[in-house]
Amino acid sequence: MRMRKKPRGRERLSVLSALTVSAPADGGRVSFTFEKDLPLRLEIGCGKGDFVRGLSRQEPDYNYLAMERCADVAVIAMEKYAVDRGLGKPHPQGGWETPEGAVYKDTLWDIPLPMRGNVRFMPMEAQGLTEYFPAETFESIYANFSDPWPKKGHARRRLTHPDFLERYLCLLQPGGYFRFKTDNAGLFAYSLEMLENSPFTVTFVTHDLHNSERAAKNIMTEYERNFTAKGFPIHMVEARKDEQPAQTL
Ligand SMILES: C[S@@+](CC[C@H](N)C(=O)[O-])C[C@H]1O[C@@H](n2cnc3c(N)ncnc32)[C@H](O)[C@@H]1O
Repeated sequence: MRMRKKPRGRERLSVLSALTVSAPADGGRVSFTFEKDLPLRLEIGCGKGDFVRGLSRQEPDYNYLAMERCADVAVIAMEKYAVDRGLGKPHPQGGWETPEGAVYKDTLWDIPLPMRGNVRFMPMEAQGLTEYFPAETFESIYANFSDPWPKKGHARRRLTHPDFLERYLCLLQPGGYFRFKTDNAGLFAYSLEMLENSPFTVTFVTHDLHNSERAAKNIMTEYERNFTAKGFPIHMVEARKDEQPAQTL
């Protein structure tokens, strides 16, 4: 996703950093806190966060981590989530204005835990997933409209490359799901083939999500809205990790 550099991006991320998860400087596991101990879901490449915002409201009995490697995009997702959860708004002169009218600028707003809701944002790269989390951390993993990387030499960057699928298999609990949707027919054919050749069991496939049995509960992403408006059908696959012991990478 190409973005023009946002002004005050670093400051915008740090003011709301109570909503973020980051890796320790010396690497290793990430730490995060939620108000309720609920099954955890991960979205990789959340973009501006429409999907995780919608799903976390529609299915509130889960906690969610939304990972986005581009910090300038992650900050937009985080601010939209904060506005949606009634936490205030960006202040026109910079910083963040709380619902009470206090303005935080250049300082962290230590948002009380019950106000933070069930989503945390990770401005981080998915390559490090198995360093950040122990095996069997997630109930589900989502990747939506991920970059197709059409050149053969870039195949390992695709979020459905076998190297990534291996990470997901490690991080999913037995019986957990990986769900992937895209408008890109070539990327979808590749992803389906990789999943069918992996230990995952494919449990649902559609080449027209919006006219399928999953349409009613589908949460649209930003890209999905754009491509749907242009008349592209949306492909989706769901695959389950079968009930067997996890292998640590
Ligand atoms: C094409 S956009 C789609 C955004 C959103 N999911 C949607 O459907 O509207 C893909 C997003 O995934 C992010 N992304 C791609 N590869 C990633 C990776 N390896 N780790 C974390 N984020 C990644 C990109 O920065 C970009 O914002």
